[in-house]
Amino acid sequence: MSDRTTHWQTVYTTKAETEVSWYQDQPATSLRLIREAGAGPSSRIIDIGGGASRLVDALLAAGYGALTVLDISEAALAAARARIGAAAAAVDWITADVTRWTPPARYDIWHDRAAFHFLTDADDRAAYVARLRSAVVPGGAVIIGTFALDGPETCSGLPVVRYDAASLAATLGPAFELQDACTEAHGTPWGSVQQFQFCRFRAC
Ligand SMILES: C[S@@+](CC[C@H](N)C(=O)[O-])C[C@H]1O[C@@H](n2cnc3c(N)ncnc32)[C@H](O)[C@@H]1O
Repeated sequence: MSDRTTHWQTVYTTKAETEVSWYQDQPATSLRLIREAGAGPSSRIIDIGGGASRLVDALLAAGYGALTVLDISEAALAAARARIGAAAAAVDWITADVTRWTPPARYDIWHDRAAFHFLTDADDRAAYVARLRSAVVPGGAVIIGTFALDGPETCSGLPVVRYDAASLAATLGPAFELQDACTEAHGTPWGSVQQFQFCRFRAC
């Protein structure tokens, strides 16, 4: 097991859902950006580094029916499945490191909240972008949320790369056209505030 996998398995086997800084009851910004990307009930949507996030619950409730959640931690996905119950059977759950994964399908919408920013190594970022390029259909949407330039320097005890729209666009390269950008002040379960930025791109 890689150090990365061990880290995240430890997090999700020792902490409850509401004991992690990134917990959100309502993933409102993600939902809005997915809706504004033009998603419909049959759009193939993948949540990269989805963990135990409630985004999949919200997407199911909103009628989106072709959902995939990928995470490096099997424990995170098991927690999400247990919470969702029978409806989890309609979701494709993938345990993988996104930088080493071979996409089995193509997706209309790629969503990532707070996974990409852990890639501090340029080779890992290049591996991520290569998968993004092969996995998203032309005209599809890419939604990535990371810590903003004035956000924390670490997350879950690990260093992160902070972005604004310009630096994220430059990192993804010219195959992705910036469509929308916003910031969000995320309130952690213990009342501190973390500055995020979210961008929505169109795959050319
Ligand atoms: C800060 S959490 C965010 C979880 C979720 N996106 C949310 O908003 O609640 C980061 C997530 O990314 C996952 N992750 C970290 N590195 C990863 C990688 N290389 N491949 C896949 N998942 C990864 C972790 O297991 C964790 O669930």
